[in-house]
Amino acid sequence: MCDKLGMSENMMFVATGSALPKQVWTNEALIKAKGLDSSDAWVKERTGIAQRYIVSEGETTFTLARDAVKQALGRAGVSPEQVGVLVVATCTPDLTFPSVAALVHGDLGFAGECAVLDINAACSGFIHALAVAKGLLAASAKDYAVVVGAETFSNLLDWNDRATCLLFGDGAGAVVCKKERGTGNERRGILAVSLGADGTAAPMLQSSAGVARGQKAGVVLMNGREVYKRAVRQMGSRVATDALLAEAKVKFEEVDWLVPHQANARIIEAAAAEVGLPMDKVVMTVGEHANTSAASIPLALDVAVRDGRIKAGKVLLLQAFGAGFAWSGAVVRW
Ligand SMILES: CC(C)(COP(=O)(O)OP(=O)(O)OC[C@H]1O[C@@H](n2cnc3c(N)ncnc32)[C@H](O)[C@@H]1OP(=O)(O)O)[C@@H](O)C(=O)NCCC(=O)NCCS
Repeated sequence: MCDKLGMSENMMFVATGSALPKQVWTNEALIKAKGLDSSDAWVKERTGIAQRYIVSEGETTFTLARDAVKQALGRAGVSPEQVGVLVVATCTPDLTFPSVAALVHGDLGFAGECAVLDINAACSGFIHALAVAKGLLAASAKDYAVVVGAETFSNLLDWNDRATCLLFGDGAGAVVCKKERGTGNERRGILAVSLGADGTAAPMLQSSAGVARGQKAGVVLMNGREVYKRAVRQMGSRVATDALLAEAKVKFEEVDWLVPHQANARIIEAAAAEVGLPMDKVVMTVGEHANTSAASIPLALDVAVRDGRIKAGKVLLLQAFGAGFAWSGAVVRW
């Protein structure tokens, strides 16, 4: 169930950007506001989450995506007209259609010659979007791709369900990537990608409704224990990690940073231990952002780029797992 993507032309990372909602909610404040039978200690101990950002009036998945893209393009010194691929990973779009990517395209003035689409692979979506963008950029006449993870899971929560509503947060992260044209940087960018799925597990983590099932977005339904076990098993697979590193021609010892999907600190710690990476090589942002689904990895990348942990030449292992179940991994040289 694991498909390796062989890719010849490469795509390098140029800059990151991010956007978080104005309002930050600590566990305590949210528990009080929603009248939940829970505690800050319970949530911190089971998940490592201390707070999350939640959208308020005027903020949507589109506005967060747009702001993250604007920041990333500004830092890259790239104009929207230079971009040939714009992919947004999200499962909480503003509208059923058009895509969030189309809304960003229209608002920021991207060129007509640009592949513009959303991808839904739930929490795993950002790495899927990187893989798709890399393929599309190879076929584009332009040099730049923008890949975004943007979510407002707060729109998809049952605020009476303490087992799910305290786990998620809103936000967006974006990366600007450049086509590698044989300038000696062939060993930078995305060195290997692996995507996989088990669709038979769909009922374990899903929304309760949808366009074709009640014309509603629904709320998150989750078998937390099973998701936890399967996430650790998949993200902690040393065999899958070794296969991905071998494809990337990178030794295990060369990995500088593990940047996993930020669902839960315990999942991340258990998976890192299984893989054999110490926690001082793991970028962890779940305490501050909670689970922002497809936005969690690009948000974590942005944090670690800004604080200097991720810089040119560093080798990253990206890993994600989520609804579907769909999972993904990538080896990147920044
Ligand atoms: C959700 C999760 C934190 C629950 O922790 P857990 O140790 O598995 O807890 P359980 O679901 O077995 O529930 C244990 C008890 O805690 C209670 N509980 C659940 N959420 C609670 C909360 N926020 N506060 C207090 N008690 C809570 C349950 O109701 C249950 O009570 P009971 O024993 O009286 O029935 C954990 O399963 C998890 O992190 N799963 C993965 C979720 C995830 O990351 N999903 C996204 C993947 S992309």
